[in-house]
Amino acid sequence: MKFLIAFAALLAVAASTPVSQSKVICYYDSKSYVREFEGCIYPAQARMLPLDLDPALSFCTHLVYGYAGVQPDTYKAISLNENLDVDRNHANYRAITGFKSKYPGLKVLLSIGGDADKEDEQKYNLLLESPQARTAFVNSGVLLAEQHGFDGIDLAWQFARIKPKKIRGTFGSIWHGIKKAFGTTPVDDKEAEHREGFTALVREMKAALNLKPNMQLAITVLPNVNATVYYDVPAIINLVDIVNVDAFDYYTPSRNPKEADYTAPTYKPQNRNDHLNVDSAINYWLSAGAPSNKIVLGIATYGRTWTLDSDSEISGVPPLHANEAGEAGPYTKTEGILSYPEICAKLINPNHQKGMRPHLRKVTDPSKRFGTYAFRLPDDSGEGGLWVSYEDPDTAGQKAQYAKSKGLGGVSIVDLSMDDFRGLCTGDKYPILRAAKYRL
Ligand SMILES: *[C@@H]1O[C@H](CO)[C@@H](O)[C@H](O)[C@H]1NC(C)=O
Repeated sequence: MKFLIAFAALLAVAASTPVSQSKVICYYDSKSYVREFEGCIYPAQARMLPLDLDPALSFCTHLVYGYAGVQPDTYKAISLNENLDVDRNHANYRAITGFKSKYPGLKVLLSIGGDADKEDEQKYNLLLESPQARTAFVNSGVLLAEQHGFDGIDLAWQFARIKPKKIRGTFGSIWHGIKKAFGTTPVDDKEAEHREGFTALVREMKAALNLKPNMQLAITVLPNVNATVYYDVPAIINLVDIVNVDAFDYYTPSRNPKEADYTAPTYKPQNRNDHLNVDSAINYWLSAGAPSNKIVLGIATYGRTWTLDSDSEISGVPPLHANEAGEAGPYTKTEGILSYPEICAKLINPNHQKGMRPHLRKVTDPSKRFGTYAFRLPDDSGEGGLWVSYEDPDTAGQKAQYAKSKGLGGVSIVDLSMDDFRGLCTGDKYPILRAAKYRL
């Protein structure tokens, strides 16, 4: 009998311990719903509907819906697209949280900020400076989440960004170009005040969420936000359930138009800045005392593209001279960015079709430290050169393995709409998400 009781107790423990406790946090950027598709060969493939999320969700522990924003003047948390998010026709908030009935373990969070909220960005700073504004934000945010069935809030705060840094001094015009491109970036002359204000905001948000059953609080550190400046780890770490570290977009064509480089290296490539890599970003949190299982490594599903010209080094080895952002892709329609399926399509040119540009040559990294890139040199007239730094299923798997080796809480996938959600590359849907999940 004693034995049976002990055995039953053992079974109970086994049943309550999930096989893998690693988090796979899936971001869904609702902008993908309204992608235009004139000029697409397969128009319907541009748009991603909530229904398209379904094949991903058995791999995700969390779904983060992006992005809500802040109303200037009132500082309330609001939907940035009411027609899409809450109105009867689409009601995406409900469609998204409704997935919980099919996937009972899934936590669905509402993310605020995320670089999607472009109107009057200074409000993100001003809000932190005012206790009244914070209260308005917290109350409205909790209400918005609760009313639509979310399991919590993710603060993807739009802090000021690190200034782009040039790698080599050989191009005299680079600085000029960068300064011009960044003339509108707000420079933060009240860093200390905003750090304290954010700590207060996290404390107040946590207190408000605690009054509701089972509401989580996550924070997302956006790319090129200097965490050392804004995130007071000892003060906030016990208040948050998850810290998503968006350790990518270190080099982008809008930040570094004349110089192409690895956009999200795991470790520091030679002669680069010490801080602009995954390992440095993660170590900031760990060395400041954060429990590793709260830290989640963000993996991008898109690549960053630059055009090359006749001044570009023909080896293709980064960092190399570039001309400007690469042209927009057929689905994502944004200069300097290509989704994984858009890149995948450029790696093959079936039958060397006439009139099509030659395919990109893929260069993998056997050291697994810096990432994969692909490129083609310009033709004799100087046209058509392209260089892209990106994640594919292999490198995403390597990053998941890195996260595992550091004992991190898991990975986040940013975002599902840029992964191959239709399985156009190889037939498998969500290959980046799957590869990361399997290596955790
Ligand atoms: C971030 O801020 C710290 C402290 O001010 C500074 O030492 C560090 O160089 C900054 N990081 C970057 C990448 O600028």
